[in-house]
Amino acid sequence: MSVIAVLGAGKIGEALLSGLLHGGHSPDDLLFTERYPARAAELTERYGVHGVGVADAARRADVLVVAVKPQDIEPVLDELAPLLGEESLVVSLCAGLPTALYERRLADGVPVVRVMPNTPMLVGEAMSAVSAGAHATAEHIAVVKDLLSHVGQVVEVPESQQDAVTALSGSGPAYFFYLVEAMIDAGILLGLPRALAGQLIIQSAVGAAKMLAESDEHPVLLREAVTSPAGTTINAIRELEKHGVRAALLAAIEAAKDRSTELGRAHEPRV
Ligand SMILES: NC(=O)c1ccc[n+]([C@@H]2O[C@H](COP(=O)([O-])OP(=O)(O)OC[C@H]3O[C@@H](n4cnc5c(N)ncnc54)[C@H](OP(=O)(O)O)[C@@H]3O)[C@@H](O)[C@H]2O)c1
Repeated sequence: MSVIAVLGAGKIGEALLSGLLHGGHSPDDLLFTERYPARAAELTERYGVHGVGVADAARRADVLVVAVKPQDIEPVLDELAPLLGEESLVVSLCAGLPTALYERRLADGVPVVRVMPNTPMLVGEAMSAVSAGAHATAEHIAVVKDLLSHVGQVVEVPESQQDAVTALSGSGPAYFFYLVEAMIDAGILLGLPRALAGQLIIQSAVGAAKMLAESDEHPVLLREAVTSPAGTTINAIRELEKHGVRAALLAAIEAAKDRSTELGRAHEPRV
């Protein structure tokens, strides 16, 4: 089994380590890097996985998963550049960073796979989209898909679609949290205690998500099934339409995609 190093074990990095351990990887085949010794000690105690320096990780690991914030990438690339060759595999989880950035900064031929995961990775329900860089083969993609399948679902997309994916599933959980928050407020408006409103809405969200995931029905049909003639739901739907909620979602997700494109441009070479 290959050795996997997670560079930057923050929220996403820790979720990946935890998922890989649950998926049967031995702590001896996993490494991580962290800047603060206290955080490294905490992770070692929790998972039995060892923290090392970036250079050590580069020497010992077959797969290097980069999970630092995009703005922290430069020093990591500086450290990795002299140490990696064609036999390494770099997997970037960093929002907006193109594979071309890694390819420019690392030695010629180093394979890079770009991934857009999302935070439900923390509970083993991530949606991850993977894209091959110029030197990544079908075999590299298979390795990455297998790795991420321990923490949720995985699809492969062309890298040109990664900004759209970022806007849709990368930021997607935030839209659902926002909706749930607004619906709990509606419960408060109707005079329900906050805890009860929260329980009613969160379980409704879990149930609706399960129906969407487990039935083959289109969302429109599932909604129509609870929208009876002259009933309560159609009154709510009329208000949602009146307030342009569908148009707001289209505009919001388009704005997220535009921002992702803009962030990616910050890493294009200056001419
Ligand atoms: N969270 C999301 O919803 C989400 C979704 C999709 C993709 N992503 C991507 O996942 C990546 C990580 O996000 P996150 O939310 O997990 O961020 P995070 O919690 O801030 O984790 C990043 C970790 O990397 C560490 N780090 C930074 N530079 C380092 C270095 N040179 N060597 C070793 N460790 C270093 C940071 O340590 P310090 O505490 O010292 O800074 C931090 O623990 C980001 O690139 C983000 O774009 C996140």
